[in-house]
Amino acid sequence: MDMANSETTPKKLGLLIGGSGLIGGYLLHYFKDKTPEIDLRSPNSKKLSLRELDDIISYFKRQKPAFVINTAITTLRSDALLSYEVNYLGSINVARAALALNIPYIHISSAATMPAGEDLTEEDHLPLSPAMSNYAKSKLMTEMTLKHMHEKHGLQYTLIRLGIVYGAHDHKIQGFNRLLYNIVDRALPFMLTKKGVKFSYSNASKLPYFVHHILDNREEFSGQHFHFVDPEPVELAKLILTIKSSLKLKTPREIYVPYRLAKSGINFMNGVIKLFNRLGYKASVPAEMIFLENFYKTQTLSCDKLKKSSFVDPNPDATIFTELPSFIEYYTARWGHLNILSSFSSKDFGGEQPMSPEKMAAEEFLHSPKQLLEATQKDGISPLEEIL
Ligand SMILES: NC(=O)c1ccc[n+]([C@@H]2O[C@H](COP(=O)([O-])OP(=O)(O)OC[C@H]3O[C@@H](n4cnc5c(N)ncnc54)[C@H](OP(=O)(O)O)[C@@H]3O)[C@@H](O)[C@H]2O)c1
Repeated sequence: MDMANSETTPKKLGLLIGGSGLIGGYLLHYFKDKTPEIDLRSPNSKKLSLRELDDIISYFKRQKPAFVINTAITTLRSDALLSYEVNYLGSINVARAALALNIPYIHISSAATMPAGEDLTEEDHLPLSPAMSNYAKSKLMTEMTLKHMHEKHGLQYTLIRLGIVYGAHDHKIQGFNRLLYNIVDRALPFMLTKKGVKFSYSNASKLPYFVHHILDNREEFSGQHFHFVDPEPVELAKLILTIKSSLKLKTPREIYVPYRLAKSGINFMNGVIKLFNRLGYKASVPAEMIFLENFYKTQTLSCDKLKKSSFVDPNPDATIFTELPSFIEYYTARWGHLNILSSFSSKDFGGEQPMSPEKMAAEEFLHSPKQLLEATQKDGISPLEEIL
């Protein structure tokens, strides 16, 4: 891009809702680095809450964005009201704002809206039913209403369905990270799946390229749903065993627990936890356990429609397996620093490492705070010249 031009032409203003989340973080980073012509803003949920219609109205009125991307969701465990208000009603109100300004709306959805099965297409979805989890129900209702708004009012939207997302810098322990965490923390003694059960995975670092491409090619993508997943589905058991062998762990043992037994185990744990909670100890079974049944049934998403589109994969060789070593390194270090691993120490992973300067500082902070204070006061408190 011509630099002189980029300085004089006003930037295109985009709104991202959910920028502090896993997917939103990748989008913010991408648009900051790679698109000088776009100013992607992401107010946090205290400034713009999807639960507050007034927040939505006043933000759109004030800023008049040229497009909006919605990656926000409430936590998986949320009750019916919060799931309904944030995931469904909030998303629809944002779409109504996009409709009023006649701007593109990009919405992120999930494979939770679909049944088990292989090579599922964008047309496949579960029947809407009261028995669905709050999360799946709210995501499916949004998919349905956005389609209806396109047909009835011409909403320019694109809906992207993701499989199991993998990416770094996720500050919650959910989805793929929950699996990794449980293996690292040795909280998965046996295999809670069946041999041969496969899933589709979505690479969070590639998604921003697709979103950018959609914005540049509105005609082709408007009013459409797309699966954004890696072409090759992955067997869950193979992934678990690969993580286990990378970490040189003994668990999970290759014993496949049948679904009924696993379900009774979880029910039993729920009972024990309820009892402990009554006694004042706060604990809970991971939110993913609502999807336990899904660990036993293949669900793979077709990406034929994506392949046939004009989008070109920026890194076709990347898969969950190529990214795994860096995730393991990043997350084991992070969880170690946060002191949330009950049974894992850095010594378990690749042996004793030489002490880095950060580690040395942490050791000093732990054992010799006086020396650290003196050293900092001697050499580390002058004005930050770099700013000047
Ligand atoms: N991660 C996965 O494995 C996965 C798999 C399939 C599909 N997806 C889909 O991908 C999208 C992004 O998921 P994610 O994993 O990135 O989610 P996430 O990390 O949990 O982030 C959720 C975001 O939503 C925001 N948020 C929550 N309540 C809000 C409210 N009332 N108003 C406005 N913002 C609110 C949060 O902001 P604050 O922190 O400011 O509250 C946060 O930025 C979702 O649509 C999800 O369904 C994710």
